[in-house]
Amino acid sequence: MKLTQLSPNIGAEITGIDLREPVDGETRRFLNAAVVDNVALVIRDQDFTPEQYLAAVSLFGEPMDQHFTQYALPQCPLVHEVSNRHKDKSGKRVKHGAGWHTDHTNHVRPPKNTSLYAVALPSSGGDTAVVNMRAGYDALPDDIKQKIQDMKTVNVFQGSASAQYSGQSADAQQERKPEPVLQPLVRTNPDNGKKALYFHPVKTENIVGMSAEASQALLDDLLDRSIKDEFVYRHKWRKGDMLIWDNRAAMHRAYFDYDPEEFRLLYRVLVRGEVPV
Ligand SMILES: [Fe+2]
Repeated sequence: MKLTQLSPNIGAEITGIDLREPVDGETRRFLNAAVVDNVALVIRDQDFTPEQYLAAVSLFGEPMDQHFTQYALPQCPLVHEVSNRHKDKSGKRVKHGAGWHTDHTNHVRPPKNTSLYAVALPSSGGDTAVVNMRAGYDALPDDIKQKIQDMKTVNVFQGSASAQYSGQSADAQQERKPEPVLQPLVRTNPDNGKKALYFHPVKTENIVGMSAEASQALLDDLLDRSIKDEFVYRHKWRKGDMLIWDNRAAMHRAYFDYDPEEFRLLYRVLVRGEVPV
């Protein structure tokens, strides 16, 4: 097994391991530390059934249920399809995750990791990008760090900004409306004690004590300041790639820059996290 760093700030690649085979404790710890240290980890050349993929992701923690249950594989429901062939009730293709975000912030214990596995890919494009929000936080001026230090976001299934969100689907708007969940805008990763910006621009209804408009303006400003090219790892998919990242220190987005007639299918598994602090 070999680890290669892909850029100074984010991303590493693992080659020479077949995660269908049993993994010993030392290797498991190495892989987990590689995700925390590098924020995003690519494990190349895997050949999984959905069940084998789920077992591989379980090396990083306990898989959890996901929103949009219509995308769950019937035979292995903790694995969801991310496909460009999904349509909403009006027959329009859905485009989830086209903007920077982190997953399931409206859960009290949102996922520690998100993992994707490439099953079918377009001939070009359709990348997934992950950005290091620990670096993004570190790059903020001190007065802003001070100002946002104790702020909490109010997270709902669909927040105030949903209407402006290009990834919005008609189906999503009809989903249930569970209780809002508060999350720290700056969270500390329990695995390394490092702080990172943590928010979902669309699931945030507002910041506690601020109007929805002022909250969105602040989040937009934080995105502008923290998402710098040198903090981004843009993953160009190869078949057999397993990508996993640390949601406690990352945001991610999908690119819909390929021919929609070509088929793109990934499997997705989420790993349960702790209550963010
Ligand atoms: Fe996502």
